Amino acid sequence: MKNRDAYLVEMGLGPLWKLRNPPVVDSDSVEDRSVNRGDGAAPTTGVGAPPFMPGEVSPRLDAIARMDWPELKTSVAECRACDLCKTRKQAVLGVGDVQADWLFVGEGPGAEEDERGEPFVGQAGKLLDAMLAAIDLKRGEDVYIANAVKCRPPNNRTPEPAETAACWPYLQRQIDLLKPKLIIALGRPAAQSLLQAEVKISASRGKLFDHRGIPAIVTYHPAYLLRTLQDKAKAWEDLLFARNTMRKLKEK
Ligand code: URA
Ligand code: SF4
Repeated sequence: MKNRDAYLVEMGLGPLWKLRNPPVVDSDSVEDRSVNRGDGAAPTTGVGAPPFMPGEVSPRLDAIARMDWPELKTSVAECRACDLCKTRKQAVLGVGDVQADWLFVGEGPGAEEDERGEPFVGQAGKLLDAMLAAIDLKRGEDVYIANAVKCRPPNNRTPEPAETAACWPYLQRQIDLLKPKLIIALGRPAAQSLLQAEVKISASRGKLFDHRGIPAIVTYHPAYLLRTLQDKAKAWEDLLFARNTMRKLKEK
């Protein structure tokens, strides 16, 4: 019986990259430190160090790790585990098909998402929908969309590492319940949260990472692409890589 990596190598996909030690971030890795969620607010420039999870066990983590979807929804709606709860209108858990093979992870809700309770419904969301359509995907059909933090950071600033860390157990539980075949991290905070390491998008594109046994691909955040048109072609390449990867994963 071959192990998973051997299968992936045979399909031309593996071995999966594992970021065990956080690489040092060089000083020019600023391309997507700030993500403007496209609702007009100025982007902020928080560095967004990785939310290294201390491997802690706590009653909160334990409880979240056992929740079903309705319990997760209620728990997130009532959550006060970080300061983002003070300024949110509502928490935004995620949207889509809970049987989905595809999981897209963004950064956090913006103003419109905070208002409507659904991820990626503003300008960045329109671009995400177009990106999905480009590879024959559609919100809600074989696709689930979530964020690294469930509550809107004030003025759309980048979530603080402590906030991403506090929210991590929810994303982790969503992944455990969904069991997607492939995860697409949109932008740096999502990538860092999933890979638990410092990540530079430009250096991580085109690689297949391992998130606890689930292949993960990193690409630019749609809000970054709205401001940086010259990188749209790279995002397109990443989407083709993702589609090709999914094809191979489904052949297994
Ligand atoms: N940007 C994100 O990262 N997530 C959203 O839900 C909306 C915009
Ligand atoms: Fe809780 Fe996450 Fe909202 Fe923070 S962002 S209050 S951890 S749901």
